Amino acid sequence: MVWPAARSAGRRCLKPPNRIMPIPLPEAIETEAQLEDVLTRPSPELSGFIRQARSPLLILGAGGKMGPTLALLARRAADTAGHALRIVAVSRFTDESLRGKLESRGIETIACDLLEREAVAALPEAPDVLNLVGRKFGSGRNPALTWAVNTIVPSHVAARFPRARIVALSTGNVYPLTPVDRGGAPETHPLTPLGEYANAAVARERLVEYHSGRNRTPVVLLRLTYAVELRYGVLHDLARKVWANEPVDVTNGWFNCIWQGDANERILRALSLAACPPLALNLTAPGALSVRKVAARLGELMGRTPQFTGTEALDALLTDPAEACARLGPPATPLDTLLRWTARWVASGGVSWNKPTRFEVRNGVF
Ligand SMILES: NC(=O)c1ccc[n+]([C@@H]2O[C@H](COP(=O)([O-])OP(=O)(O)OC[C@H]3O[C@@H](n4cnc5c(N)ncnc54)[C@H](OP(=O)(O)O)[C@@H]3O)[C@@H](O)[C@H]2O)c1
Repeated sequence: MVWPAARSAGRRCLKPPNRIMPIPLPEAIETEAQLEDVLTRPSPELSGFIRQARSPLLILGAGGKMGPTLALLARRAADTAGHALRIVAVSRFTDESLRGKLESRGIETIACDLLEREAVAALPEAPDVLNLVGRKFGSGRNPALTWAVNTIVPSHVAARFPRARIVALSTGNVYPLTPVDRGGAPETHPLTPLGEYANAAVARERLVEYHSGRNRTPVVLLRLTYAVELRYGVLHDLARKVWANEPVDVTNGWFNCIWQGDANERILRALSLAACPPLALNLTAPGALSVRKVAARLGELMGRTPQFTGTEALDALLTDPAEACARLGPPATPLDTLLRWTARWVASGGVSWNKPTRFEVRNGVF
């Protein structure tokens, strides 16, 4: 199974200026150590780019699903390039053990609650900042906290680093569901989503944009849908259902995703695209994936026959990454490789973070 042709492919994706050089990929991934090695192997393009990153590179919200491998990827790229880049990972570090792991790999850490203005003020000056902080899950139960994390934190950060280049993570959830046959929302689509999380994510972008305009801060907003690796993500969720012989609901019948290693590689190289007014880019692999077809392929790989419920709706949360592909090249990791890795990982009892993406949600309540 290959990434489906994006409807916009003829427009921008077929001749990207910087085609990513393929990195040799293993047939299978058996352990978390091997997984983290694969996720943090720098591409030649990243090793070339990283010399432009300036110390300290601050990674905010580094304690979540993406931050640790992003920090390690930056470390390996800088080391490969012989660039003495200081990398500082900032988070509350709810998982305290993560600090030691990062520090042992040459990444400095600072424990900080970024909701506290004084704590943000005490962070070191930084010319390059990646902001990964966000809150999605639990928004139905505690929407006030979701609004606080998604608005107060980016506002503090943008005000604290007016002269930095900022890569601010956003989400494809800033768009409403769009008709599947349109090929996904481009960046110009109105930001009129459903639900408190998604609207707080729109506010997150707007506050960064406001500070950027006020201080002339160069910013790139990356609207990500969905990062996948073997311990979590849409492919992991589908594989677990198929493996457990649980029915797969196809009502929300289509999705986009991108290998987390490819997503992190782009987050770093996106520093070069920071602009004022901010540049917004959809971050995912081109082409809408059918839930039914992906589940069927996973079933084939795992020796299971998937059970389906529901009927595909005519719309879904889909974004068009043509602009990002044109600027950064297409993501390197083939879809069928991801499906083979995921099927084997789940079928052999590989670690799960038990953090479902809830990509089936269509009413905006997470
Ligand atoms: N992963 C995806 O598939 C996906 C999809 C779409 C968009 N995104 C966006 O990409 C970004 C990174 O994704 P992710 O999956 O790594 O998110 P994540 O797992 O939620 O990680 C974000 C981390 O930020 C830290 N944080 C939260 N509040 C904080 C605070 N007040 N002060 C300091 N740190 C705080 C938390 O770590 P501590 O507990 O250590 O503080 C949290 O784990 C997010 O902004 C998300 O919106 C991700």
